[in-house]
Amino acid sequence: MYFDSHAHFDDEKYNENRDSLIREMNENGVDYIINIGADMKSSQNSIELAKKYDFIYATIGVHPHEVEKMTEEDIKALEEMAKYEKVVGIGEIGLDFYYDFSQRDKQRYWFERQLELAKKLDMPVSIHSREATMECFEIIKNSGVRKGVIHAFSGSVEIAREYIKMGFYIGVGGVLTFKNAKKLVDVVKDISIDNILLETDSPYLAPVPVRGSVNNSQNLKYIADKISEIKQISAEKVCEITTKNAKCLFF
Ligand code: NI
Repeated sequence: MYFDSHAHFDDEKYNENRDSLIREMNENGVDYIINIGADMKSSQNSIELAKKYDFIYATIGVHPHEVEKMTEEDIKALEEMAKYEKVVGIGEIGLDFYYDFSQRDKQRYWFERQLELAKKLDMPVSIHSREATMECFEIIKNSGVRKGVIHAFSGSVEIAREYIKMGFYIGVGGVLTFKNAKKLVDVVKDISIDNILLETDSPYLAPVPVRGSVNNSQNLKYIADKISEIKQISAEKVCEITTKNAKCLFF
């Protein structure tokens, strides 16, 4: 019933209970999880999770926080890793000018290189964009990549519409349930449910009423409920359509 399009269950926060939690989620209606790589090691770990669990798939890629020491060898290694059949996308990749953990020039360069790889392999991308909205949009536009998801979307209604026109989905997670979420609520109101993917970004961004806890995919129900309330359609329908959307993008 639920499709979590963005989660990090390889994170060390799950070291104590990873296997039992993963089984629990699957027993409670989480039918698909995309486990997202954020550096070379977590990309490999995502593949290991996908090998171990039927309902988990992997994306591979290097997050803007981690590109400072990225090399051309890493691009080759990612290309090699992408051959495994349960690798369904490149990500998360993008720009983060809020934390600026990596130099901006390096962020731009390795974002472009990884988009090139996605284009070459004809794979969708999972995009991280923070305080870099227009530049991120322009880089994607110029790359020619036309399928993916803007994870934890934080932009305006206008830019959401532009991304959708370009073939992208809008990733909506726990932030939608936060008190200060007006901008994202407006986006969800404006766009069609056909353009939305549900995500948790576990272990981060747990929704209200479990905000602040270590997140997991069962909490997608709170996000589905909120979308149901905003769009006046049943939560069941929200899950059905967003699952169909995610399958359409990744499978
Ligand atoms: Ni993430």
